[in-house]
Amino acid sequence: MASTTPAAAASAQSFEIRPFDAPLGAEVLGLDLSQPLDEHDFARLHLAHLNHHVLVFRDQRITPEQQIAFSRRFGPLQIHVLHQFGLPGYPEVLVVSNIIENGQPIGLGDAGHYWHSDLSYKEKPSLGSLLHAQELPAEGGDTLFANMHLAWDTLPAHLRSAVQGRSAEHTYLAKYAELQKRSPWRPNLSAEQIAQVKPVVHPIVRTHPETGRKALFVSEHFTTRVIGVPEDESRALLAELFAHSVRPEHLYRHRWAAHDMVFWDNRSLMHLAAGTPNHLRRKLYRTTIEGDVPF
Ligand code: SIN
Repeated sequence: MASTTPAAAASAQSFEIRPFDAPLGAEVLGLDLSQPLDEHDFARLHLAHLNHHVLVFRDQRITPEQQIAFSRRFGPLQIHVLHQFGLPGYPEVLVVSNIIENGQPIGLGDAGHYWHSDLSYKEKPSLGSLLHAQELPAEGGDTLFANMHLAWDTLPAHLRSAVQGRSAEHTYLAKYAELQKRSPWRPNLSAEQIAQVKPVVHPIVRTHPETGRKALFVSEHFTTRVIGVPEDESRALLAELFAHSVRPEHLYRHRWAAHDMVFWDNRSLMHLAAGTPNHLRRKLYRTTIEGDVPF
């Protein structure tokens, strides 16, 4: 974690961290992310992020540069394979949007259509992601989060023993063709892009590198098979794990408000975009922080 970046001219801010009445998540009140954070404030936020897995900062009037600078305090940023949806001039910022301009999508409109943990298809999946609301629909557009520590803690014994010590394959391309058929937001991938997303194998139960807590680490979007078991058994096992992970008692639903910044931990959570009616515009900017190789 790159927490020691010098915070130029940073001074302490007075803010409160208020946990949600939910299985995860907290609101950070009174903090202005356009201002540099001093080390003490950064350490408080870092700890709150580890404890609550989702932090919501309301009404943040920040620029892409400020979002990038804040995100970089936690580690290097990852550039999405669909680089055509990077914000012009800011390749580290992925535009998540259903808006079509001059016949062309301006961003990835169906990001989060299936439950997933960001970039789990990489050798080093994402530590966390930050999504900053730019334009919100009058209805819909919520984001759901599932607590994968709880999913592991409450996993029935027969499933625990079925996954203990096992690994699974994660593939960016798993649902790509299916999504491409139903949406305008999935361009054909170049050979170079395909080479960037070769399948990887990760443990099904991972240990959070900072807290030591165990979490289930499989998702309906990217996990394709359990290594070392017959295909039908693998499919049935993954279906049970997916269904258990997203039980209502593991979830927090984020209803976006103007200028919200939401920062989540991909090592502890999966998330899902609940969907936006096609005729309503939605645009958010995402930065994605690189994490460790899961163990
Ligand atoms: C994502 O999966 O990063 C996007 C989530 C959303 O659009 O709500």
